[in-house]
This record gives sequence, structure tokens and C-alpha cells, in this order.
Amino acid sequence: MTSTTTGHQGHHLEHLLIAMLNDASTDAQGATLWIVDENLAPAQLQAIHPRANLLAITNRFEVGEALRAAGQQVLVNDFDFAALPVTSVARIVYRVSKERALVHHCINEGYKLLAPGGSLNLLGHKDDGIKTHGKNGEQLFRSKAQLQKHGIAYCTTLRKFSQLANANPEWLDSKDYPRLRPCQVGALEFISKPGVFGWNKIDHGSELLAREARQVLHGRAALGSVLDLGCGYGYLLLVTADLPFAKRSATDNNAVAVLAATTSFAKQQLSVGVTLDDCGEHLQERFDVILCNPPFHQGFSTSNALAEKFLTEIRRLLSDKGIALLVVNQFIPVEKVAAEHFQNISTLCLQDGFKVVQLS
Ligand SMILES: C[S@@+](CC[C@H](N)C(=O)[O-])C[C@H]1O[C@@H](n2cnc3c(N)ncnc32)[C@H](O)[C@@H]1O
Repeated sequence: MTSTTTGHQGHHLEHLLIAMLNDASTDAQGATLWIVDENLAPAQLQAIHPRANLLAITNRFEVGEALRAAGQQVLVNDFDFAALPVTSVARIVYRVSKERALVHHCINEGYKLLAPGGSLNLLGHKDDGIKTHGKNGEQLFRSKAQLQKHGIAYCTTLRKFSQLANANPEWLDSKDYPRLRPCQVGALEFISKPGVFGWNKIDHGSELLAREARQVLHGRAALGSVLDLGCGYGYLLLVTADLPFAKRSATDNNAVAVLAATTSFAKQQLSVGVTLDDCGEHLQERFDVILCNPPFHQGFSTSNALAEKFLTEIRRLLSDKGIALLVVNQFIPVEKVAAEHFQNISTLCLQDGFKVVQLS
């Protein structure tokens, strides 16, 4: 498990990351590329000083927005490095992701991008597998990884020597990270890939949410419009495709989820407007039904701000007579935050550690 960025643990790592990114000593040799995924909060991005030779790449919409607002150059996509010329980069700084296939993809792509003499700095904690990533990288870089400990944070540095010395690179197994894959679970067919939440599975909470939505909406003549807020590969709208919604929309902050959902809907010939956004904050219309399996499952205290943001947006996006259905872990007191925004809050089901809550 990756440590949170909010506790004492995350502190050392953030300081190290910020110090490395603000170090312009290699700028004369070329660009520093910063690979950023979900594990840094947007507020912490402000400590990084933008400069011409620092470029970021992220798959998260709000990270891209925050960096752009700070004047930072940033690419937002599913870690597609194709726009960057090979051997153009002097240094890469990467706080490793949770998903191994993604880490391997970034190490492989990083190797291609680095100029001879350039270095890849992998940052993380012991339990992020940082030492293993360094060891694996040694095969490709054919050089010894240098491990440094800074408090509880680690940095493994891999240096790329002359390209000629490694004519047949031993690429790390990235499971072909960029490839979208057809998936089937029971009768449900969808398109997904690593990087998407529970990418080749059906989340049990989402399953309960879909079941409850069916019951609540059963018998209604007109269902109006529906929004899946935080859509992942699109499960909730795929599994309710038979319900007579007049219009369907889905949104997620993760570029890879938007890609998978768009492809899944197209494959099923289901017309859905899909947007990359932070909690749907750029959506202008209102919806009669909002379905949401929000991302604040693991520990409410650390994600209180996120819960607040989701509930504020759900209120704004819900039509006057609309209903929102959420599924959360049973121990999450979502009703407390919801009470500030909604008059009617009811628990529709408590099962298997989940609860489905209706808000209007
Ligand atoms: C628990 S998953 C549910 C995915 C999908 N609805 C399902 O049922 O399989 C939560 C989703 O919320 C997305 N998410 C996280 N933060 C978000 C944000 N700020 N705005 C929009 N979506 C977000 C995640 O990328 C993830 O796809």
C-alpha cells in the first residue's frame, strides 16, 4: 500500500520530491520530466516553482489544472509520452505509482526519453516496492541503482549511460500498459485497462448501487437524464443500459478512465457524453439522476475535503426533483456531510460492509 501524502509519513517524501523538482542544476543539460499521478494533493503542487526546463505529465485532470494555473507546462493523458522526443530529457523525477504495470511502463518510456548521461529518480517509501523497482530497472539501464534514504523516504537513481552500450534493451514487463482490453465479467462486456479503478472487475459496492437504482427507478415512466460521477470504465451506465434514460453523461478525473468508458460505451452503442473533469465541476446542465461510487472509501478523515467537494457538486448538478444515489463503505458517515446540502437523506441498503444512500 502506498502511504498517504497527508500524514507524517508523507511529509519526508513530499519535501524530498519538492526539493528535487526545484533543483535546476541539470537544466543546462536538458529538461526535467516530472511524472505525476494521483499520489500528490493539488495544494502541495504549489510549492513547485515552474520553469522552462521543467515539464510535467499526469493522468489526473485536477493535477493538470493546478499545474497549469501555476504556470507549469503539463501534458494530461494516460502517460502517453509519444509527444516528447526520445533522448531529449536530462532527468526524470517520479514518485512511483501504486500499479506495478504503470511503474514499469514509466521506467521503460523514461529510459527511451533520457539523453545519455541522464538519470531517472524513483521516489517512494519502503512499502511502495521502491527497492524492487530500482533492482528491476538495473536490467534495463545496465547500471547499478543508487539507493538513498531521506528519513523514511527513499530515492533510487538509475543512470543511463551511452545508448550504444544497450542495443537490445531488456524492457520491464509493463503488461503492455497502454493497450485497451476487452473484458467480460458474467454477462457484462466492457473495454478497460490497468490504471482504471478495479479495471477488470465489478466493484461489489457498484453492483449494490445499480441494484438499488433499479428498484428506486422501477415503474417511473420517464427517467430524464443520468450522470455517473466518477465513472471508471463505465460500469454503472453499462449495467443500467436497459433503463429508459433520456440522456446519459459520465465523468471522471482520470484520463485513462475517460478513455476506457468512452470506448466501452461506443462498443455497446450506448450514447453517453463523457468528460474529463474534477467532480464534474465544469458541467453546466443539471441531472435527474446522479449515480456515484465516490473515491473516499479508505479513511474518511483524510478525504473529508474530497467528500465535501463531491457532495457540493452533486447538490449543484442535481435537478430540483432529482435524486442522487451513492454507495460508500458502511463506516463512512457520509450522511453528516450530506446533511449540509440535502434535506432528504435515506439509507436504502446496508449490506456486505456497504451502504447505499439516497439524497434529494
Ligand atoms: C470507486 S471508483 C468507481 C468507478 C465506477 N463508477 C465503478 O462503479 O466501477 C471511483 C472513481 O472516481 C474517480 N475519481 C476520483 N476522484 C475524482 C474526482 N475528483 N473527480 C471525478 N472523478 C474522480 C476515480 O478515478 C474512479 O474512477
